[in-house]
Amino acid sequence: MENKILNGRNLADKLNLELKEEINKFVKKTGIKPKLAAILVGEDPASEVYVNIKRKKCAEAGIESILVKLDKEISNEELLNEIDKLNKDKTVHGIILQLPLPNKLRESTNEFIEKIFPLKDVDGSSPINKGMLFDYNEELAACTPKGIIALLEYYNIDLKGKDVVIINRSNLVGKPLIFMLLKRNATVTVCHTSTKNIEEHMRRADILIVAVGIPNFITQEKIKKGAIIIDVGQSRVEGKLFGDVDFDDVLERCAAITPTPGGVGPLTVAFLLQNTFIAYKKQIKIY
Ligand SMILES: NC(=O)c1ccc[n+]([C@@H]2O[C@H](COP(=O)([O-])OP(=O)(O)OC[C@H]3O[C@@H](n4cnc5c(N)ncnc54)[C@H](OP(=O)(O)O)[C@@H]3O)[C@@H](O)[C@H]2O)c1
Repeated sequence: MENKILNGRNLADKLNLELKEEINKFVKKTGIKPKLAAILVGEDPASEVYVNIKRKKCAEAGIESILVKLDKEISNEELLNEIDKLNKDKTVHGIILQLPLPNKLRESTNEFIEKIFPLKDVDGSSPINKGMLFDYNEELAACTPKGIIALLEYYNIDLKGKDVVIINRSNLVGKPLIFMLLKRNATVTVCHTSTKNIEEHMRRADILIVAVGIPNFITQEKIKKGAIIIDVGQSRVEGKLFGDVDFDDVLERCAAITPTPGGVGPLTVAFLLQNTFIAYKKQIKIY
């Protein structure tokens, strides 16, 4: 392949710039700015960093954002009320609930997500938006899988007939990817902690997508020669960000690979902005 390093940051910068121009045109026409509300419960430092990055990128693209910061001792009912207030606020077009929630609230995560009005669900997590994906409608689908597909398409990596192996079955990564990949005629295998002989699956993948959150989980003996490696994992060790792939070890053997940082991460944020713009257009009903 001509480009061995799949540069997510460059693609994200390009998309964000194009979006900024598009938003500018809409705001001139309508006088209404897109607005994202981010709900942050508690004081998890990693979550604060992620929310700040998202808000910074929003500002650069011309999307207003508000931070609804809530105490970690908040009750279920109070959090549901906060979500409802944002659902009813006509100036807010997108809502994200930063996960993970503090322990006390965590087991009710689905209940909170289900409360977000589907038209404002820019993380693609509500049952309606997940169901739409079942019918290959990706309009308000999860941001990370959208970013991965955009990256593969940008580098002209054809998915038709390819054996794609995903190591992850979460709602935000593995599950949405299944439908997006099937839509593009790939043959999809999903692995997780109960998968038998996982290394056999990894070694036959034309495209391997890994999101386990374990640094150096993938080394060269685990991949097929010429495979394309998409590293989604993000772990912080002593303040430094690591993916799931031993990049230097794998580089020689693979056909293409995403770096960390600068791979999937910036695209996740870029597609949050894209989804916010989609939600905005749907709500102001001007296209
Ligand atoms: N770059 C980005 O923008 C971005 C976005 C989202 C997530 N991430 C990163 O991606 C990783 C996963 O995130 P998540 O929210 O999906 O986490 P999650 O819900 O904990 O999912 C982790 C998945 O990996 C599987 N897994 C874990 N250890 C494994 C092992 N040893 N062998 C096989 N499968 C294993 C789990 O299997 P079980 O289902 O059996 O437990 C689960 O399906 C994290 O590092 C996260 O930070 C990055």
